[in-house]
Amino acid sequence: MKRFRTYRKDQETRDSYADVRVSAEDFIYPYFVVEGKGVVEPVATMPGINRYSIDTLVDDVLQIGALGINKVLLFGVVGDEVKDERGSAAYAEDSLISRAVRAVKQASPATIVLTDVCLCEYTSHGHCGLVTERTEPAVEGGVLRKIVDVDNDSTLPLLAEMAYQHAKAGADFVAPSAMMDGQVGAIRRRLHEAGLDRGTKVLAYSAKYASAFYGPFRDAADSAPSFGDRKTYQMDFRTRDQGLGEIEADIEEGADWTMVKPALPYLDVIARAVERFPDVPMVAYQVSGEYSMIKSAAQSGFLDEGRVVYESLVAIKRAGAKYIITYYAKEYLQRLAFAG
Ligand code: PBG
Repeated sequence: MKRFRTYRKDQETRDSYADVRVSAEDFIYPYFVVEGKGVVEPVATMPGINRYSIDTLVDDVLQIGALGINKVLLFGVVGDEVKDERGSAAYAEDSLISRAVRAVKQASPATIVLTDVCLCEYTSHGHCGLVTERTEPAVEGGVLRKIVDVDNDSTLPLLAEMAYQHAKAGADFVAPSAMMDGQVGAIRRRLHEAGLDRGTKVLAYSAKYASAFYGPFRDAADSAPSFGDRKTYQMDFRTRDQGLGEIEADIEEGADWTMVKPALPYLDVIARAVERFPDVPMVAYQVSGEYSMIKSAAQSGFLDEGRVVYESLVAIKRAGAKYIITYYAKEYLQRLAFAG
């Protein structure tokens, strides 16, 4: 008989054998940014999460800085009147996010600012790239069929331009999440041409699955597709090895950090990727649905929120993630941090 229970006999002993820790430096805190002044607008599907205007965003970034969180990820949320087919507001001069980046870096230069690079929050159709129509013969029969799809290659320059605008504003990382093939390479080249690739790195949303766990986010960011879904560009979760291929391609294209998203249901992918690519920092995105699931169960009294959040974060780190993007970062440190 092996006496495993000696490792667990009391709190002190358990603490000394625990080899996975969660701390403020692990966290990247996401923000939804809107136009206006003094705005702190609750997101209905994500209790505890708000949309902020640039001024209140800066205040909040300073607050979480005091908790030890020094990395933030910014998403822009714009009104319908600003959206168009090409998502122009995403890559306009002096865009909402460019102004937000400047304001945050000015108020808190040590904060590492990451920006989401994707068109879905800015397009009238809510897709992550340009929507085009083409006709193709249906299988065998020769009947022409109209296909409406998100076009890969014509979207790349727009994502590159968006990344360039964010980099010019001082973003430390641009984080392309549109799942267009070649997006990391296109962005890298654009940053290189502009001489901005020393200051700005790329966090690639490499293995991003077409997931129902993004539901609450699409409400928060008003970015749900108006027709169809994202299955022609985001990954099919029924594939085992494709995620590793996506990560490998992004590393080859020059990604500095890589990502698996969502986090908890995809720990296998995280673990295998970290084993295969040990030198590239892995970021795990605990997405909106993961947050809202725990939050609503806790609000119903079905789960102990602090312990469940702690256990989830430890599990994500145990799988090998170096950083965790989580909507719980702030509340966890403020209120929930659980040490047992
Ligand atoms: C933008 C984007 C999405 C998320 C992050 N970036 C939405 C989507 O792909 O539909 C989801 C994040 C979350 O659910 O917390 N493309």
